Amino acid sequence: MTKAIRIHAAGGPEQLVLEDVEVGQPGPGEIRIRHHAIGLNYIDVYFRTGAYPLQYPAALGMEGAGIVEAVGEGVTHLKAGDRAAYASHPPGAYSEVRVMPAKCVCRLPDAISFETGAAMMLKGLTVQYLLKKTLPVGGLQAGDFVLFHAAAGGVGLIACQWARALGLQLIGTAGSDAKCALAREHGAAHTINYASEDFVARVKEITGGKGVKVVYDSVGKDTWDKSLDCLSPFGLMASFGASSGPVAPFAPAALAGKGSLYVTRQTLFTHLATRESTQAMADDLFAVVASGQVKIRIDQRYPMAEVAQAHRDLEARKTTGCTILLP
Ligand SMILES: NC(=O)c1ccc[n+]([C@@H]2O[C@H](COP(=O)([O-])OP(=O)(O)OC[C@H]3O[C@@H](n4cnc5c(N)ncnc54)[C@H](OP(=O)(O)O)[C@@H]3O)[C@@H](O)[C@H]2O)c1
Repeated sequence: MTKAIRIHAAGGPEQLVLEDVEVGQPGPGEIRIRHHAIGLNYIDVYFRTGAYPLQYPAALGMEGAGIVEAVGEGVTHLKAGDRAAYASHPPGAYSEVRVMPAKCVCRLPDAISFETGAAMMLKGLTVQYLLKKTLPVGGLQAGDFVLFHAAAGGVGLIACQWARALGLQLIGTAGSDAKCALAREHGAAHTINYASEDFVARVKEITGGKGVKVVYDSVGKDTWDKSLDCLSPFGLMASFGASSGPVAPFAPAALAGKGSLYVTRQTLFTHLATRESTQAMADDLFAVVASGQVKIRIDQRYPMAEVAQAHRDLEARKTTGCTILLP
């Protein structure tokens, strides 16, 4: 038996309950891992509220780090005793020990702590595919402007630093002046407090009227329309989240009038479809963290049993950087 957080119905943070659950032996292609730290992500909120459906009772959590206890048949890239970290389906990271598919679990370099590993895999691999693979026609070159919403969040602060390392001019939005200052400290070339400023007008001002080549938008409902107005002709609207709610249906014809724009809705798990693609992306993330160009900032730590408070704080926009749970 082990302790795990589960929910028995979709709903608010009060649905998150600590329970004793059974953990078995890993089957073919699986491992058993004992967590030392667990990552909190906004996707956990979508699963908890039922925006993404689950079968109940359901486990939650998609990011963690710890020690591999056992490996199932056919698993060759990990062995018992390895330090490891992952971003992976299915949910279940909110636990002391779990059995899970091995495909997306990577050996964690000795120089990277469990806490950092748990904080960075889902968010860092997301920034990896956004800045390296979710690109406008012709790609991004040093000096190009991109707009990144929620730049002081978990994904956001990693994006600010990685964009700076790539020579990009990241314009970051955030909901307070203090969050904007944090984004600038982490490499945002410019910031906009979208709670008090018109971000379209400010983007036009910063870019000399040209607009940005890409908008990376995880906020969704509240930022979608205005984000389209920030793009230069043939620019890319890269939607990857819905912290403020889902984007309303839109008419593709609108993209013509705004400059023949491109739109994509990306998810990390398409990029993590194979062991090889997962490892290649993780190696890139490990390298940029080992180089010191990207530092993983953990601003909130909660005991796993207090995960409901962690969810409340995340949804109330009280957090900055990454948040971890300690089993
Ligand atoms: N598709 C993918 O592959 C993928 C992967 C990872 C994450 N994501 C998405 O990326 C986003 C960031 O994830 P994260 O875990 O790092 O979270 P986070 O950015 O640390 O937290 C969410 C932030 O969104 C902003 N926000 C704007 N409107 C909001 C609202 N109405 N309610 C709550 N927050 C609001 C808040 O920052 P301000 O106060 O500064 O506005 C808040 O701090 C999420 O939307 C997540 O779903 C997508």
